[in-house]
Amino acid sequence: MSDGAIRTVAVIGCGIGRTHIAEGYRKHPDKFRVLALCDVDERRLAKLGDEFSVQRRTTAFDEVLNMDDVDIVDICTPPALHVAQILAALAIGKEVVCEKPLAGSLAEVDNVIAAEQQATGRVMPVFQYRFGNGLQKAKRIIDMGIAGRPYLATVETAWRRTPEYYQTPWRGRLETERGGVMLTHAIHLHDLMTYLMGPVASVFARTATRVNPIEVEDCAVASLVMQGGALASLSATLGSHKEISRLRLCFEHVTFESALAPYSPGDDPWETLPASREAADRIADVLAGHLFVPSRFEGLMGAYHAALTTGSMLPVTLADARRSLELVTALYHSAVTGTAVSLPIGRDHPSYSGWYSGAGGNCPLPASGASGRSAPAGG
Ligand SMILES: NC(=O)c1ccc[n+]([C@@H]2O[C@H](COP(=O)([O-])OP(=O)(O)OC[C@H]3O[C@@H](n4cnc5c(N)ncnc54)[C@H](O)[C@@H]3O)[C@@H](O)[C@H]2O)c1
Repeated sequence: MSDGAIRTVAVIGCGIGRTHIAEGYRKHPDKFRVLALCDVDERRLAKLGDEFSVQRRTTAFDEVLNMDDVDIVDICTPPALHVAQILAALAIGKEVVCEKPLAGSLAEVDNVIAAEQQATGRVMPVFQYRFGNGLQKAKRIIDMGIAGRPYLATVETAWRRTPEYYQTPWRGRLETERGGVMLTHAIHLHDLMTYLMGPVASVFARTATRVNPIEVEDCAVASLVMQGGALASLSATLGSHKEISRLRLCFEHVTFESALAPYSPGDDPWETLPASREAADRIADVLAGHLFVPSRFEGLMGAYHAALTTGSMLPVTLADARRSLELVTALYHSAVTGTAVSLPIGRDHPSYSGWYSGAGGNCPLPASGASGRSAPAGG
């Protein structure tokens, strides 16, 4: 394939897969062509195929693997299927995009990393919220050293999920969703926080299931110490009647505050408050050459194509997915054991092979008394 060529895509899973097409690939007709759709649900397959005029449709994932003219396999299936589908696609030489959460444990992520090292294709995990003009300006200010020492972050994921949302059978169940609000929803905001403030050193978390009658947590709080010494507080709920996402990041020379849009927290307007005239001048200088960064999947897929074309680092890497799942592992381990957990999480950690079924019965259920529900057998 020549540089800058149109990449062909097969989208696997027609739920969020629709958004990948509508907001991502279709915004870049000069870069991508969706050639095939795959879903075990024929009704969904037909509906999405008709909407975007994609004629090649299949209910069998293996058929996609045999399509020689497909460059990218974009995995938008339920979480428990991700790793097997990634490994199969890498083994046959495809580029892979995969929805979050990439895997169900650090051990699984490490297997994927090892497979990628042997493969011709690469894996881009999905963290589309990194893309948006407000967040990217903040990132640039921080990366240029203008913000100074990080002091404190406040991160709020206040979303709402009703019983209808849990009609989809894989949701809300430990075996298939593998976690609740910290794994499935707040993972985005927590990724943004570490993207801007760096790695986490230690966590203490509490979880509860209070909003819906599900097996996994739907409320969580955590207190973090970052490797750079800053403190962070995380709160996440699926019971907020007004949905917001909010990041407030206090640095030595600048305070950043995101807008509140729940599902596009990277978008302007972000508030950037310099501590001094000098900081304001430096920010103005560095942003003078800033190029607009499109939101969400449009930004992500544009950057993805550029990385495929030049061979440069992908806009989201397996290391990023690993870092986010390492935080998830630490948060659940802390919530279940009632102890502070230090990072990094090594191979000898009891939750390395799965926070929901690891040794010691770790699972993302509330500690006794938080919700009144007990852990399921085998949890
Ligand atoms: N990045 C985001 O903002 C975002 C938003 C929503 C969902 N997600 C993630 O995307 C994934 C899918 O979530 P969803 O909400 O679209 O779920 P969904 O249940 O609505 O859609 C998943 C689809 O996959 C299909 N499927 C199941 N098994 C399959 C198989 N073996 N082969 C082909 N298709 C199969 C199902 O029939 C279904 O249509 C999850 O991991 C979820 O966490 C991410």
